[in-house]
Amino acid sequence: MAKSTGFKKINIAVFISGTGSNLLNLIKHSKLKNSKFSIKIIFSNNKKAQGLKYAKKYRIPFKTINYKNKKTAEIYSLSKLKQKKIKIICLAGFMKILSADFIKRFKGKILNIHPSLLPKYKGLDTHKRALKNKEKYSGCSVHLVNSQLDAGKIILQKRVRVYNNDNPETLAKRILKQEHKIYPLALNKLISNS
Ligand code: GRF
Repeated sequence: MAKSTGFKKINIAVFISGTGSNLLNLIKHSKLKNSKFSIKIIFSNNKKAQGLKYAKKYRIPFKTINYKNKKTAEIYSLSKLKQKKIKIICLAGFMKILSADFIKRFKGKILNIHPSLLPKYKGLDTHKRALKNKEKYSGCSVHLVNSQLDAGKIILQKRVRVYNNDNPETLAKRILKQEHKIYPLALNKLISNS
């Protein structure tokens, strides 16, 4: 049971599709003393997402949602978000694009983490493209979600050096470490400004 620390934690939801390392990182941060947020529900569009094991391990309610019919999927998730009194949504490797209607309901309250220095390399295969262009630096960005892909206001970014002998996997691994640093910081920043 959370002790009374004189302030109310913000309820958040995390949406995932895969490995869930950012999810695990957010869970760990939510357990820290003086954490400002509590993860009340986890959604995955993929029932085989590895990240769901963290929902089970930490006993956080989770739902897998089939996005074949996006409208139905979003109506269902919105009802759950309301039920759990969710104030902020964190997308963490979530591979579906939310509808403009859904985003409007949580305007300015949906964060996403993207493995590039936005506005560069929006979309998929960021590391491959950064390497092909012989970038000296790549990195990661936490941004607000709006109706355009990877284009909302940037909350935090971290630059990461690209080495000559990098391949997409080595670069991804080095960037992921920085993702784990900036995502909780960006979330706390959004909470403080809310
Ligand atoms: C991360 O690189 C994130 O930036 C991108 O998808 C990846 C998800 O990794 N959007 P994980 O599932 O959090 O380990």
